[in-house]
Amino acid sequence: MTAQPSSSLAGIDLRDEIERLRRERKAVILAHYYQKPELQDLADFVGDSLELSRKAAASEAQVIAFCGVRFMAETAKILSPEKIVVLPDVNAGCSLEDSCPPEKFAAFRAAHPDHIALTYINCSTEVKALSDIIVTSSSAETILAQIPREQKIIFGPDRHLGGYLSRKFDREMLLWPGVCIVHEAFSETELLKLRARHPDAPIAAHPECPPAILDHADYVGSTSGILKFATAMPGDTLIVATEPHIIHQMSRAMPAKTFIGAPGADGNCNCNICPYMALNTLEKLYLALRDLTPRVEIEEGLRRKAKASLDRMLEMAAGTVGKGDLGAR
Ligand code: 13P
Ligand code: SF4
Repeated sequence: MTAQPSSSLAGIDLRDEIERLRRERKAVILAHYYQKPELQDLADFVGDSLELSRKAAASEAQVIAFCGVRFMAETAKILSPEKIVVLPDVNAGCSLEDSCPPEKFAAFRAAHPDHIALTYINCSTEVKALSDIIVTSSSAETILAQIPREQKIIFGPDRHLGGYLSRKFDREMLLWPGVCIVHEAFSETELLKLRARHPDAPIAAHPECPPAILDHADYVGSTSGILKFATAMPGDTLIVATEPHIIHQMSRAMPAKTFIGAPGADGNCNCNICPYMALNTLEKLYLALRDLTPRVEIEEGLRRKAKASLDRMLEMAAGTVGKGDLGAR
């Protein structure tokens, strides 16, 4: 990825300038639900990982400004190589990607030649290229259901999502030992104290949470699945066990309902804010659109290999029409 120059932004109306550049560059701005509210609010589309990859593949824009993390921007470039893809902060990574270096993953695969690799989209392009089928949290169940039971599977890099699927499908998989540092930080003790104060509020959790949290959840699903659950639930209060910036969309869509972020170990910390997503800012988005950098570039041979496993996901998940859903528990 190319680096980004520093610049003085004094006196600039960032929102006006972003608007002008969006038009001039024929750009589309995509944002994940974990982005800061000001970025969500000016995006052309806000969604979960599956929806965002579909948008990137279908977009007619010349430039995609991706307000998310690196693996998401790389996915956009893999699916739309003719477009310029920029990521406002080049350092917006992911602990799951970091947990799975390609050389180690290749060695693990080589040690289990009779297994296919079903791999969570939160990984590098190199690991996607080493995989057979990519999944997101909203497509994983639909895809796993299509793989014959006798087929042995390596699932990486998120051991909590893999463990959840394994329990739900009663199916053994070899799990890569990666975790999301954000979802790992929720505290079961504090969650139970919170629930005691709101006994009628259901808990919705992302499957990146550890089993001790998922065991208390009334609903487990992707970010878009949690949003749909919030819309459909009969009550007026929901405890949300995922990155808290998703609450911005919930409160916008359902101002009369109350959404409470699940707590970390001290009962009231910021440890559930994704530090990688938080690197993107309005200023950096402006600079990325102005300078068309940091730009995602992927070597063509590698891109084609990674695209094959992403294409398999998009084909196998075709029926997953934004269900965003691993299913209610
Ligand atoms: P989804 O938005 O696909 O549920 O994934 C969440 C995530 O891991 C983002 O990092
Ligand atoms: Fe990665 Fe977790 Fe941040 Fe998602 S929330 S980008 S999985 S570190």
